[in-house]
Amino acid sequence: MEIIRVKDANEGGKKAFEIIANGMQNGAKVLGLATGSTPVPMYKEMTDSDLDFSNMTSVNLDEYVGLGGDDAQSYRFFMNDHLFNHKPFKETFVPNGKASDLAAECKRYDQVIADHPIDIQILGIGRNGHIGFNEPGTSFTSSTHLVQLTQSTINANKIYFDKVEDVPTQALSMGIGSIMKSKKIILMAFGDAKADAIKGMIDGKVSEDLPASVLQNHADVTVIIDDAAGSKL
Ligand code: F6R
Repeated sequence: MEIIRVKDANEGGKKAFEIIANGMQNGAKVLGLATGSTPVPMYKEMTDSDLDFSNMTSVNLDEYVGLGGDDAQSYRFFMNDHLFNHKPFKETFVPNGKASDLAAECKRYDQVIADHPIDIQILGIGRNGHIGFNEPGTSFTSSTHLVQLTQSTINANKIYFDKVEDVPTQALSMGIGSIMKSKKIILMAFGDAKADAIKGMIDGKVSEDLPASVLQNHADVTVIIDDAAGSKL
């Protein structure tokens, strides 16, 4: 893993953007994208840039079950709002959280990933080491699946909802096996709430108890952290 230390999330977003821009110059066509607060400065860099994304495809990591693209808390809405409404892509994929048959939707999404192999995957990390919505205990070979969110993830995400009861308890997530097939991975983490997860991911043993530790087995991972997230290294 290459570890890049930055001053703050804004500088981290700039670094990640530079890697993406460079990747696009070298032929990257498919970006794997994440939501949450971590990549927001990177999306700002993308929308402020004069880069053209109209030949690019994006494949997002996850979506809440029960929320559609019109719901302001859905990840589809987030992506439109932070990126796609400003920078049109050729095609954008997010799991459909309102699908009536969730098992069929997982299969469909696996086909999307197979048809659009990810060149550069952007990841944040949960306090418990989750990547995507792959909570501790998720198999390293998993494909897209239905997830029961842990209480810690529900609590972390409740800031985006009026009340904790409104936070969905299930999500659809790209699996760890699929994430690991991405050619290049950029994981960003900022703030001391991520320090334990970052320590475990980099120095801990590779274990399904800390999903992000699987990245030790990937050949091309760049970790972008601030001093707070890196304080336990
Ligand atoms: C989001 C996602 C999650 C987040 C993680 C960190 O699509 O897959 O794994 O990256 O929960 O969230 P933030 O960035 O809000 O701290």
